[in-house]
Amino acid sequence: MKLKSRITGTGSYLPSRVLTNQELEKMVDTSDEWIVTRTGMKERRLAAEGEFTSDMGLSAAKKALEKAHLPVEKIDLILFATLTPDYVFPSTACLIQSQLKAVNAAALDIQAACSGYLYALAIAKAFVESGLHKNVLLVASEKLSSIVDYKDRGTSILFGDGASACIVSAEGKGLSIDNISLGADGELADLLILPGGGCRNPASAETVAGGLHYLRMEGKEVFKHAVRRMESAAKECMEKAGLQESDISWLIPHQANIRIIESLAKRFNVPMEKVYMTIHKYGNTSASSVGIALDELLEEHRLEEGEHLLLVAFGAGLTWGASVLTYLGEGA
Ligand code: ACO
Repeated sequence: MKLKSRITGTGSYLPSRVLTNQELEKMVDTSDEWIVTRTGMKERRLAAEGEFTSDMGLSAAKKALEKAHLPVEKIDLILFATLTPDYVFPSTACLIQSQLKAVNAAALDIQAACSGYLYALAIAKAFVESGLHKNVLLVASEKLSSIVDYKDRGTSILFGDGASACIVSAEGKGLSIDNISLGADGELADLLILPGGGCRNPASAETVAGGLHYLRMEGKEVFKHAVRRMESAAKECMEKAGLQESDISWLIPHQANIRIIESLAKRFNVPMEKVYMTIHKYGNTSASSVGIALDELLEEHRLEEGEHLLLVAFGAGLTWGASVLTYLGEGA
């Protein structure tokens, strides 16, 4: 019998510290009005000083396991999507494997920036449907505040910290993972980059003095590609799933900019009340953003069996992806 992957439980975690636009006004030359109209963001969350990517991921993972009613020993693979790992190595996946005591799980990190959740979902789907692994724990977590330059108004206003998680299995209810389309264009790697700390620019007094440990972004260029790439990925994915625009009940986009989201919704004829949004309260949480939105949507809205969800994301690399999910009903 052909195995069919599904999401049987989701979780998310947001740190309690809120960073408002008004606070940012005191840190850089900006205004609440500019940030709201240009990005849709009002506030974002910041991890506490001793709180790391693994800690936030762990909290989200525990919630997902609980919702899926899955004992931790049954997890046989952990995928951890992040661009702000606790360390370059070992992987953050290994750190939470230990914290969770998921003794039967293999563990690896996935680096696809803001598309990380969708890349990890595709890998989970492939592993589960091939029969190689039965129960995959997918975690996406970011402490972006650790790589943001709070003197740069072009980036400091955009990013926040947070985590999401889900369980992907071959059995149970939840959301079937019908299709995923992924893409990348490494020619545009320089548009969004953290130049320091890798082997090209190993950490040194000079790299720190030059601010190479902070993320850099050419926002305008990234914006243009974001709309185009998310649109084509979503189209391809819907086509493969045999769905029309009118079949989509909810659009769950990466929460990078309200104007990107609005233009995507317009292109797919999805009314804004059917676009799930967290951007105003959490900003851009990179890999975890789509997963946080999915978890909150499932908490807040009662879906009908057979409803289709469209997930789309875009990020550094450049990378992009889209996925169609179908609601199978409640319960693991
Ligand atoms: N406050 C006030 N003014 C600002 C600010 C600010 N925070 N930031 C920039 N400006 C100014 C600029 O200096 C510029 O001024 P000028 O006209 O005098 O030169 C003006 O506002 C317009 O700047 P733009 O960069 O053209 O502003 P834009 O409308 O493009 O908005 C933004 C910038 C919000 C960054 C937008 O380009 C964007 O969202 N880009 C996409 C980001 C994205 O999608 N990232 C996803 C991937 S993230 C990942 O993978 C980690």
